[in-house]
Amino acid sequence: MSRFFLRCIDRGCGAVFDSAEKLYQCPRCRDLLELAFEYRLPDPGQLRDLWRQRKASRDPLDVSGVWRFREVLPVASGDWGRAVTMGEGNSPVLEAPHSARYAGLERLRVKHLGWNPTGSFKDYGMTVAATQARLLGSRWVACASTGNTSASMAAYAGRAGLESVVFIPEGQIAYGKLSQTLDYGALTLQVEGDFDAAMRLVRELSADTDLYLMNSLNPFRIEGQKTVLFELLDQLEWRVPDRIVLPGGNLGNSAAFGKALLELAELGLIEKPPRLTVVQAAGAAPLYAMLRGGSSRLEPVAHAETRASAIKIGDPVSWRKALRALQFSGGDCQAVSEEEIAEAKAVLGRDGIGCEPASATTVAGLRRMARGEGTAALEAGEEVVAILTGHQLKDSEYTVDYHLGRLEGIEASGWSNPPRRVPADKARILELLERLG
Ligand code: F0G
Repeated sequence: MSRFFLRCIDRGCGAVFDSAEKLYQCPRCRDLLELAFEYRLPDPGQLRDLWRQRKASRDPLDVSGVWRFREVLPVASGDWGRAVTMGEGNSPVLEAPHSARYAGLERLRVKHLGWNPTGSFKDYGMTVAATQARLLGSRWVACASTGNTSASMAAYAGRAGLESVVFIPEGQIAYGKLSQTLDYGALTLQVEGDFDAAMRLVRELSADTDLYLMNSLNPFRIEGQKTVLFELLDQLEWRVPDRIVLPGGNLGNSAAFGKALLELAELGLIEKPPRLTVVQAAGAAPLYAMLRGGSSRLEPVAHAETRASAIKIGDPVSWRKALRALQFSGGDCQAVSEEEIAEAKAVLGRDGIGCEPASATTVAGLRRMARGEGTAALEAGEEVVAILTGHQLKDSEYTVDYHLGRLEGIEASGWSNPPRRVPADKARILELLERLG
């Protein structure tokens, strides 16, 4: 059996703790904690075969795209039966030819994590964090959120019979997401402040009370999200792409991808990691600013601004882990404007691939990189996978506003597709169709 425990990510500190301790930060040095594994697993070929064979099974654990990889999750085999799962993961990898051309690439594949039970990548992590909450005997779970974490947490808490409380910045999350937490029965607190203020509150409250914190500070969340890359590589027949591009907000997903790459290499499942590129919205880009400025400390953005509300975050909690991920993979960071995000989203739409604005930062970032802008220039012929993180219907207001030319400060471009008003008259409609050819 593999062993696992909590460990401080600061090499100098390196304090370790039992994984059953309810900790989110190192009590000694305040740095982040991660789960460390002493793996005792079959060889890489056997592991790959085992994970592939499970795809033919009807066992709910095998049907889950997260628990299919349970050998690398921090849950003992005796507890697997207590997993809180609803078939999460299993998100497709799709060719995106229009988006590739737009970005200046020969080929682009996207992995769409929005195709999950609650419509975002958060479900990959939440299934594991909710299971840990259940194993710890927690009654209440809590998170601060720009909307997707809260939707996912509320759903998984509902499945697990836990009570949930969400802290959301008032008036700053998309309606699709708000509607989810209401339906799933979470106590929904609209904080008079931004995401960073909500995050500070919930951190303090979970330190002082029994509330179990489900933000990505919680290392069990990160472990679930780690399986995104195991799943992706299985889908790619274990041929490692050159580059993986993903949006960055609180930087939990970047942290999870970095952890996955370290372990994939350690387990002999890959030889060389793909380079990770994190893309931020220019108005909420503290990681980008740090790397560009050559600094080793992240300076929070006091008032983050972007219409991609999922990533409207100025003080990302997981930046140290994200930095480690970029260092390990030879990766980098990009920042893109509001216009670039809106246009890239509409282009992805032409591929039949809807997504929420934050996800479209990836294609916008790739376009910059293909032009050699920033520190993250693409080399010709690189195999690229973009990670889309949220479902198109999460923020339909944004989409309609864009196509109607109503997104403040953003010019409608050649990609906008406003509806046309027509009389209820067949002849006039035929005339219009002919004109459009
Ligand atoms: N994309 C979407 C759709 C998101 O909801 C988020 C984060 C991100 C990207 C960024 O991921 O934070 O791991 O860097 N949403 C969080 C939330 C913050 O509360 O739902 P990250």
